[in-house]
This record gives sequence, C-alpha cells and structure tokens, in this order.
Amino acid sequence: MTRVLSCIQPTGDVHLGNYLGALRNWVIGQHECDAFHGIVDLHSLTITTEPGVVGDNTLRLAAMLFAVGLDPEIATVFVQSHVPEHPQLGWIMECTVSYGELSRMTQFKDKSAKREAEFISAGLFTYPALQAADILLYDTDEVPVGEDQRQHIEITRDIAERFNGRFGQTFVMPKPVIPRAGARVMDLQDPTSKMSKSANSEAGLVYLLDEPAAVLKKFKRAVTDSDSEVRYDRAEKPGVSNLLEILAATTGGTPETLATQYTQYGPLKSDTGEAVVEMLKPIQARYHELIADRGELARLLSTGAHKARAVASVTYQRACDAIGLIRS
Ligand code: AMP
Ligand code: TRP
Repeated sequence: MTRVLSCIQPTGDVHLGNYLGALRNWVIGQHECDAFHGIVDLHSLTITTEPGVVGDNTLRLAAMLFAVGLDPEIATVFVQSHVPEHPQLGWIMECTVSYGELSRMTQFKDKSAKREAEFISAGLFTYPALQAADILLYDTDEVPVGEDQRQHIEITRDIAERFNGRFGQTFVMPKPVIPRAGARVMDLQDPTSKMSKSANSEAGLVYLLDEPAAVLKKFKRAVTDSDSEVRYDRAEKPGVSNLLEILAATTGGTPETLATQYTQYGPLKSDTGEAVVEMLKPIQARYHELIADRGELARLLSTGAHKARAVASVTYQRACDAIGLIRS
C-alpha cells in the first residue's frame, strides 16, 4: 500500500489555506493509503516562543486534526518530539545537504527577510534537513502538501539520491502530491500573497475556529478589483479568482464554470462565505468536544508515537548501518 506522510507545525491556529491545501487531502488519503501525519513541534522551535506555548499549540492542533476527520484508528497521528529518530536522522541529513542548497530555499529567504532585525536561528536555515528526515524515516512514497512546499520535497529527493549514491540504496524516493483546487489559497485582503499565519493583518485570514459572523464579514470585505466582471483569471483578477477557487474547493465544480453563474461580486462573496461557514460547522463542533478532554488527546498521541517509532527506528538503523556507524 502506498505510504503517505505529511506534517504541520503547531504555530498559531489552522486556517482555510491549511485545510483546503493540505488537511482535507490527508483525511481523504487515509482511506486509500497507509497515512502518517506529524505535528512537527521541533520545526516550530525555529521561531522562538515563550515557555509552554508550543505544548499548548500541539494539543490544540491535535484536536483540530482529529476534528477535521483524521481517524486515530486508521492514520498514524504523532508528535515529532515523541520520536527521537527525527532529530537524529536530521543531523545526518544536515551532513548530506550543502550550504548552497539550503541558501536557495525560498522559505528561508522569505522568513529571514521578514525577521530582519530579529533573531534568525540556525535551525531556520537547516529546517529542510529536518523535514527530509521526517519524510525519509517513513519510507514515504507520497507527500501531500500545498504548492509552497514543493521546493522542500525537491530538496528531500536530492538528499535521498545523494545518500543512496554514497552509501547504497537506503531511502525510498518520495514524490510531492499537490492538489489543484485549493493548492494555493490567497489572503482575502492581499490576493497576490498566500493565506499565511505570518500575514500582517487577520482580516485576510479565515481560521477554522472563526465564528460564522466573522467568516461572512471577512468574505464580504475581500479585496476584488476595480472593474466588476466575474471571470477566472489568476493573473489579471487575483481576488475574484481566489474566491472562485475557494468556492470550487468547498462546493465542488470548477472555478471556470462557477464564474459563469455570477455577474456581480456581492453574491459571489456571500455565497463563498456561506459555503465556508457550512463546511466549518461540524469541524468546530467536534473540535470543542475533543479539546475538552486533554487526557484522551494525550492517550491518542501516545498511541500514534508508538506506531511512528516502530517504523522510524527501523529506517534510522538502516541509515546508520549503511554509513557504517557502529552499533551500541
Ligand atoms: P504551514 O501553515 O506553513 O505550517 O503549512 C501547513 C500545510 O498547509 C502545508 O502543507 C502547506 O503547504 C499548506 N498551506 C499553508 N498555507 C497554504 C495556502 N495559503 N494555500 C494552500 N495550502 C497552504
Ligand atoms: N515545512 C512544512 C510547512 O511549513 C511542515 C513540514 C515539516 C512537513 N515536515 C514535513 C510537510 C514533512 C510535509 C512533510 O508546512
């Protein structure tokens, strides 16, 4: 069976971009593939936070992953720091990737530029090596992610190929799987930038836990363009096209055909807002139930960690043996 792995950082609340670009496909995929999903708390340490914050975010994200439909009986949902093989193989990956390759990563360039006057950790720079370890530890065939992660999967493939070339066939070659509709949800206030936790204002971001009134308001105020034609054209009409893509991703259909059903922006905005509210209702109800029982959440994550370690420890040992590290 195809092995699928994807991970998400416990930084801030989950938004519509995360859901349509990633989580929703994970939920569908768990029934077709052998699915592993990590909450990558160690990755989130690349941007420092106050004590306690990462743990709280991890539990809230776990509740959200189960609320959107990941089934702990089917998929393996685990916390990265519960599986020590991640940072262990991460170090080996750091020694397999070059400084030049890491320097070309657009996520690093963007994130470090945004933090200009702030602390930029070495971890922010070496992040793709840890991500490569996340993927390669599970003999992953497919990595379902949003378009923004393509470069990180490419570098993982380069690292795997280099390691296998140096030390003999060890790692399975993973490939990215990027959905068409919802692959890149844009900020409602700035439709040329992707919807992201690091946006300047909250007005363009729809969180999965937003109240219905807040969701409708955000869509009502979405930036469109000065003319009033409803047409699907990413380059010329980014705001309208983003709404059409969100509507297509939530109700089915294609952005092109949905465009023909509207002559004005107002109804497109309210229909999209309402479709999103309907989609979020059951997710929010399940989330509130789950987050109220933190003991049960911890139990589910402990089961996930056991299943994850059973796979990761075998691959890690295979890599150590290939290099020729002596066993303890
Ligand atoms: P992040 O929020 O960067 O931790 O991303 C978690 C997952 O959500 C990754 O698989 C991303 O590719 C996906 N993702 C994040 N933002 C968006 C977006 N605006 N549109 C589509 N997918 C996204
Ligand atoms: N870098 C990813 C992001 O920012 C998160 C991530 C870490 C990931 N490890 C991964 C995604 C492994 C897929 C597979 O969204």
